[in-house]
Amino acid sequence: MKTNVTQVMVDEHKLILRMIALVEKNTELLEQGKFRDWQFYLDAVDFIRNYADRFHHAKEEDVLFIELIKNGMPEKQSPIEAMHMEHDQGRAHVRAIEEAAQKALAGESGQAAIIAENARGYAALLRGHIEKEDDILYPLAERVLPEEVRERMLQAYDRAEAATPELEETYRKLVEGYEQRLAS
Ligand SMILES: [Fe+2]
Ligand SMILES: [Fe+2]
Repeated sequence: MKTNVTQVMVDEHKLILRMIALVEKNTELLEQGKFRDWQFYLDAVDFIRNYADRFHHAKEEDVLFIELIKNGMPEKQSPIEAMHMEHDQGRAHVRAIEEAAQKALAGESGQAAIIAENARGYAALLRGHIEKEDDILYPLAERVLPEEVRERMLQAYDRAEAATPELEETYRKLVEGYEQRLAS
């Protein structure tokens, strides 16, 4: 049995999907005129930037994708290039959400539609993205990566996690807090 190098990221996807579900539900309420918590969107942006992007996508881009390329997967016109592009598309939606939520907090009108459009765009993008990684790219990585590179991959993940020790806990609590608010 080979050392698993993708389960940690499958697990991270689960917390990211919980935040995406919150974004979808709150955006539905926003569109019905029943939700005006602009701070939620700034917190979602913070989660996405620090947890999804810096923490999770960094493991993919700096460790997993690099090993796949070293082990024969092309860098261009390949699943790796597609995943990189989707990470970048996600970042563009996040910037738009942040800008509109800040304007809304400052009292500028007309921001809800911009937030909703980008929130929905981001949620759909990331759901599809996570599905491709969970169902196609990660299983492929588990098949093709040789055992001898796996230990150093896990060490690289550990180093990334050690750089921000409280991060996982902080963002899990953020998600739980908004889940409770939605349920009450
Ligand atoms: Fe990804
Ligand atoms: Fe991912």
